[in-house]
Amino acid sequence: MSQPRNVVVIGAGPAGYVCAIRLAQLGQKVTVIERSALGGTCLNVGCIPSKALIAAGALLHKVQNAQAMGITAKDVSLDVGQLVEWKQGIVGKLTGGVGGLLKNHGATVIYGTASITSKTSVEVTSSEGKQTLNCDDIVIATGSEPIEIPGFAFDEDNVWSSTGALRPDSIPKHLVVIGGGYIGLEMGMMYRRLGSEVTVLEASPRVLPGQDEDCVKIIQRSLKKSKTKVMTETFAKSWKKDAGGLVVTVEKNGKTETVTCDQILSTVGRKPYSAGLGLERLGLELNRGFVSTNKKMQTSIPNIYAVGDIAGQPMLAHKGSKEGLIAAAVIAGQNDEYDAKCVPAVIFTAPEMASVGLTVEQAEEQGLKTRVGQFPFAASGRAMSLMETEGFIKIVADAKTDEVLGVHMVGPEVTELIAEAALAIEMGATTEDIARTIHAHPTLPEVMMEAAESVHNMAVHIFQKK
Ligand code: NAI
Repeated sequence: MSQPRNVVVIGAGPAGYVCAIRLAQLGQKVTVIERSALGGTCLNVGCIPSKALIAAGALLHKVQNAQAMGITAKDVSLDVGQLVEWKQGIVGKLTGGVGGLLKNHGATVIYGTASITSKTSVEVTSSEGKQTLNCDDIVIATGSEPIEIPGFAFDEDNVWSSTGALRPDSIPKHLVVIGGGYIGLEMGMMYRRLGSEVTVLEASPRVLPGQDEDCVKIIQRSLKKSKTKVMTETFAKSWKKDAGGLVVTVEKNGKTETVTCDQILSTVGRKPYSAGLGLERLGLELNRGFVSTNKKMQTSIPNIYAVGDIAGQPMLAHKGSKEGLIAAAVIAGQNDEYDAKCVPAVIFTAPEMASVGLTVEQAEEQGLKTRVGQFPFAASGRAMSLMETEGFIKIVADAKTDEVLGVHMVGPEVTELIAEAALAIEMGATTEDIARTIHAHPTLPEVMMEAAESVHNMAVHIFQKK
């Protein structure tokens, strides 16, 4: 067996910590440097805490809207302090778990800020001073940070970033959300369910730009039904405090208007985080702030790797973890590379949205002829029994080969259902493969099977004209 390599991983989010654990599993010597908390944005101030609050919002909504089932819940109340404590408990368990896993695998964790001083050395500044670590390989996994727009500096008091929105002292009466993307809609819909009046300001002509249009229509309908105000083609310009609250000035079609609220949340995207790392000094190749890599996750300096948000779009935790596993395998001498056909995306709106692979438009741009099948949750017995019949599953297939190219879903539990679609694409499955697979009854995955059948107008539980 070859000598273990000495690897420094900078950043302990889902890209960095997964990479570090896999490196240790493969017998390498690992040191992880983290300036803040193990688990990164995802576990501490992102995916996990937001999903906890969203689950609470969904439960509250359900108990308040179960009269059709014969359930009337009186005096249902929300203790915000307890909710935040419960959410923080989950974060604590998971981040503690990451610490335990790193320790048990023999990885060393240093809390401090890293700066790459040469191809084989990293300087760490911590409360105990500075130290230099010499190593064979470096993995950059520093993640990303929320973008601030002019006039809306985050003070986490009047103007929240997503971080502030995850630790409210109370539920705002009127929340203005700047940006109708992933975070804006997840948080906006969650606060609506927890009782806030919500106004979303979106610069594009529609919310969730870039997502499947038919899926977004369902979300737009849901926003309308829940009386969430959405102002599209609207830019937030500035805000000031007056006796009535926070007055946000917006520009729409060249005209200026104001919206008064008591809380602002700005979620206009994230940018790669590389401050102080010394990337310019090293001369690493960058692309719009992201560190460029090849499929082995190597940067322009081959023994320096980049994984996760810092290595480019899509900035999703699971894509970062996958890249972390690949970097670890390559460092350990395995012949691996990033060859995933697709990355699923899940959005915890109400109802949920999820997609993987190509939309019809993207497939056609690639010169492919497509066939599309779609099946509504309204025709699913399971969806009816859950009282969640909004939405559908849509499958985009190659008209020539029947191979699944993309799957787009909106409706109950679609953030779970998308896994079957990702597997189908990764395995090169056809819609016939999915249609012929027995799906248990009565379950939501049957909707996937019928969507596959509907590609050839053969769905049994809807009438399809030939
Ligand atoms: P985003 O890129 O999803 O959405 C930002 C939105 O803000 C866009 O719709 C954009 O048109 C709009 N916008 C930009 N400037 C504006 C302005 N001045 N005024 C009004 N609107 C403006 O970014 P978001 O929501 O901040 O999320 C960041 C990233 O975090 C996502 O790209 C995603 O990768 C990740 N994320 C993933 C989640 C998941 O997997 N469920 C959940 C939340 C975030």
